[in-house]
Amino acid sequence: MAEIIDGKAVAAEVVEEVTRHARELIAAGTTPGLAVIIVGEDPASQVYVASKSKKAKECGFHSVQHTLPAETSEEELVALVETLNRDPAIHGILVQLPLPGHIDSGRIIQTIAPEKDVDGFHFINVGKLGTGEVETAFVPCTPAGSMLLLERVRGKDLSGLNAVVIGRSNIVGKPMANLLLAANATVTIAHSRTKDLPALARTADILVAAVGRPEMVRGDWIKKGATVIDVGINRIAAPERGEGKTRLVGDVAFEEARAVAGAITPVPGGVGPMTIAMLMANTLVSACRAAG
Ligand code: GUN
Repeated sequence: MAEIIDGKAVAAEVVEEVTRHARELIAAGTTPGLAVIIVGEDPASQVYVASKSKKAKECGFHSVQHTLPAETSEEELVALVETLNRDPAIHGILVQLPLPGHIDSGRIIQTIAPEKDVDGFHFINVGKLGTGEVETAFVPCTPAGSMLLLERVRGKDLSGLNAVVIGRSNIVGKPMANLLLAANATVTIAHSRTKDLPALARTADILVAAVGRPEMVRGDWIKKGATVIDVGINRIAAPERGEGKTRLVGDVAFEEARAVAGAITPVPGGVGPMTIAMLMANTLVSACRAAG
């Protein structure tokens, strides 16, 4: 049976350390500030954004949330981001994705000042990560958190290990592949057009699932002893719990995978809490840089 990687516990350690550092920074005159923007009423996004703002407060940060109606224009959103770019009390700006269809997400992301881009989505930060400038880049929170969990099991150096990342999103798949590469893994990115995905997955010593398809990765896709990082958070119907009930599952069929893998992250309680913890860490780093 696989070791269960306790993301909740690791995230709590990160948050505790961030809180301690924040206290010192505040005493020296700089309070880390995080602004989170949400446009529209997507219920899942609302939950994520509320937990980001709440965690920032718990860390002692100055935390502001801008909740804008779905009809907000692109120009209004650009103006808000530009205002926050100029605000010296704000060190991190996060615009929750996805945005409503009439807004060009790319333009909004590129409007965020790179030094306040705690999501790591701006071209400058993407480019730094892609060229190995990991020290000065903001690294996207979900892949950064996934790497920290992986480090607990496999250490920092992944030389000689095959990593397969399923999913090629800008938020998770691509930055995850770059981080694995920076850690010396041999990396393959798989996606919806990949041929014989189960066979490819079985070559992985490290398997990262980031596709958003409930329980797509089955037990027989997994190499014995592999480390499995499940990034998916999918809400599915759970009639066994009663009429209309739901439950959260990952992109990996957990019980099947657990019987084969060496270590695996659960859903919930794996990668999810790490995402928020890394956002706090990135905001602290930004505030430290601003304080000089
Ligand atoms: N939507 C899903 N994940 C993320 C994330 O990490 N950052 C932002 N801004 N939006 C998201």
